[in-house]
Amino acid sequence: MATASRPRPDKHAPAELGFASQAVHAGNAVDPGTRALRTPIVMANSYALPDDPSTLSWSGTDVPLYTRNGGVNQHGLERKLAVLERGEDAVALASGVAALHAVFFTLLNPGDHVVVADIAYEATFRLFSELLPEKFGITATFVDTSDLAAVRRAVRPETRLVHIETVANPTTRVTDVDAVAAIAHEAGALVSIDNTFTPPPLFRPLEHGADLVVHSLTKYINGHGDAISGAVIGSAALIRRLKLDAMVDAGGVISPFNAWLVMRGSVTLPLRIRQHSESALAVAEFLERDPRVAFVAYPGLVSHPQHELAVRLLDGGFGGMMAFAVAGDKDAQNRFVSRLRVITSAVSLGHDESLIVHVDSSGPRVAFYPEEFRTFGHLRFSVGLEDARDLIDDLAAALDDTFGAR
Ligand SMILES: Cc1ncc(COP(=O)(O)O)c(C=O)c1O
Repeated sequence: MATASRPRPDKHAPAELGFASQAVHAGNAVDPGTRALRTPIVMANSYALPDDPSTLSWSGTDVPLYTRNGGVNQHGLERKLAVLERGEDAVALASGVAALHAVFFTLLNPGDHVVVADIAYEATFRLFSELLPEKFGITATFVDTSDLAAVRRAVRPETRLVHIETVANPTTRVTDVDAVAAIAHEAGALVSIDNTFTPPPLFRPLEHGADLVVHSLTKYINGHGDAISGAVIGSAALIRRLKLDAMVDAGGVISPFNAWLVMRGSVTLPLRIRQHSESALAVAEFLERDPRVAFVAYPGLVSHPQHELAVRLLDGGFGGMMAFAVAGDKDAQNRFVSRLRVITSAVSLGHDESLIVHVDSSGPRVAFYPEEFRTFGHLRFSVGLEDARDLIDDLAAALDDTFGAR
């Protein structure tokens, strides 16, 4: 029965639906040509022009023109992402890195300064430590964003952007997005948040002061390990700039097929996130209890340095991502991984299957990592949708094979 305070649910007004209903219906429409219930994949790269095309803008993104400017599969996905992240608009792009690049390329000019979390995805680190400074004279200060005084000190008059990850790849550091956004806005800078590790319903950065949200859709939002894609969500005005600069004129467009795959995968996002979170907590607690494990970094553990902040920020769980190491050297980490029979050694994350990757303790990013990461290296672990019991048994057996049974 509809309640007085809530409008009657209608799948054609997805902004008013609950999150699970939005994941099913937002951005989808009955196809007018075929009456198909799900938007078909339209692989054409060009569209029939009107009788008088002379006044069309070749940069237009709303009229059927050319697939680099938009298409029915892109548009459906963008509408859905805007609803899920509670933004005005979204742009879907070829990869998560294309989405990050779209933000930086569109918003920054030579001489600008950026404050960047010192723990962030590898490409973000390289863009701000090498490519953008060397090619475009954009400077960056890397900062521990869990230290608000340090963020305040890093901001300068020429700071245009503060970029962070809600839960950082790979150490799982959690940042107080509201507090960082307040500091950035006071200084006149925009805030972009890479929310790949904590998609809705876990966290919605735009409700915590962020101006733009970036996702690698490759990960949880698609969730099935079969497409590369990314997106940025925010105000209509900012997204319009990103579409023109980074999509139409820099070409970072998503393929219609990948947009369709992500649309399909994202239908089950609410169910998957719940299961990833539940299993990850059980697995993290198991690992933490075992003396053959050197450390476990998971925001759901009371031992996590920002656990209380994670409880305050995240809704309905702590996600599926953790980092840990076994108590041994590099060979021990490799031996342990090689003994796993259910969990797969591979990069990427947020897939249906559990993925683990051994990351060495060398390289420039590592200087910013907590001491235990520098001592042991780490195993970045994306807890999948298998039975938690199977995952725990697999980890236990691999520990026994590596160190001998307890
Ligand atoms: C936090 C984060 N952002 C962005 C990316 C890049 O995404 P993609 O591989 O889709 O380009 C990744 C990839 O692992 C990531 O973990």
